[in-house]
Amino acid sequence: MSAGNLIDGRAIAEQLHAETAARIAALKSRGIQPGLAFVRVGDDPASKVYVGMKEKTAARLGLASTTTVLPVTTTQAELLALLAQLNANASVHGILVQAPLPAHIDEAVIFAAVAPTKDVDGFHPLNVGKLMLGDPTGFVPCTPAGVHELLIRSGVKTEGTEVVILGRGNIVGKPMAAILVQKAKHANATVTVVHSRSRDVAAHCRRADILIAAMGVAEFVKAEMVKPGAVVMDVGVNRVPDATSKTGTKLVGDVDFARVQPIAGKITPNPGGVGPMTVAMLMSNTTRAAELATR
Ligand code: GUN
Repeated sequence: MSAGNLIDGRAIAEQLHAETAARIAALKSRGIQPGLAFVRVGDDPASKVYVGMKEKTAARLGLASTTTVLPVTTTQAELLALLAQLNANASVHGILVQAPLPAHIDEAVIFAAVAPTKDVDGFHPLNVGKLMLGDPTGFVPCTPAGVHELLIRSGVKTEGTEVVILGRGNIVGKPMAAILVQKAKHANATVTVVHSRSRDVAAHCRRADILIAAMGVAEFVKAEMVKPGAVVMDVGVNRVPDATSKTGTKLVGDVDFARVQPIAGKITPNPGGVGPMTVAMLMSNTTRAAELATR
């Protein structure tokens, strides 16, 4: 496999980490210790892994983090009470409630209860609204912000291009569309959001100059759905059976990487593409929350 067209998310995330670490050092030189509070409810194995990775990176960059793990039986009222405490705690600059939450808890209610100034996930309605309006004072969700940063730092021009996004979720698809459709530098794209009720998904995909796969279906994007030379960004994380692995499973993206990579202009590997950037954007957002809170 030629590595010539790979977008190295790990390397680009490290660039961003270096910039964030310098900002954290500047805060510390003013006596400010930036702090991030993680909240996890239940024992979803993927969420454990994600929060674990974010904790480790926070520690490496010099962010103080705390993690509250609540039982799956936690009520919505109990979670809201914890958020009220964290909102009031001046040493906490960022709050992240890992999704998905148990079915008896309304995620929208929880995300709206995080103080917008501490909402480093960018899920609060105020920050969602600011993103739609192109108001840069809000926080942008980490995964689509990470995809955007990868495009920028890989020299991919978006102006006037056809961008097709697969998936319309609140965490990736919708905010991704909002970012790239803005009348702004590094945006100005013609954006199509394709989803489970779309007609002729493959035809939409084949028009894409930039194809962003974020619908959570293992290896859905096949070579014949990709225009030769297109930029392919794979956001998917899907666990599938794998008889050759010790655990009996492996992680694959939403793109059939082996077949798409040879025809793509640029492509993110998976793992090692978008994932590290999600973490990098979280660290950057948290540092910014601390900067804004202590101006
Ligand atoms: N679950 C999947 N992605 C995310 C994310 O970016 N933030 C949170 N809080 N939960 C998630």
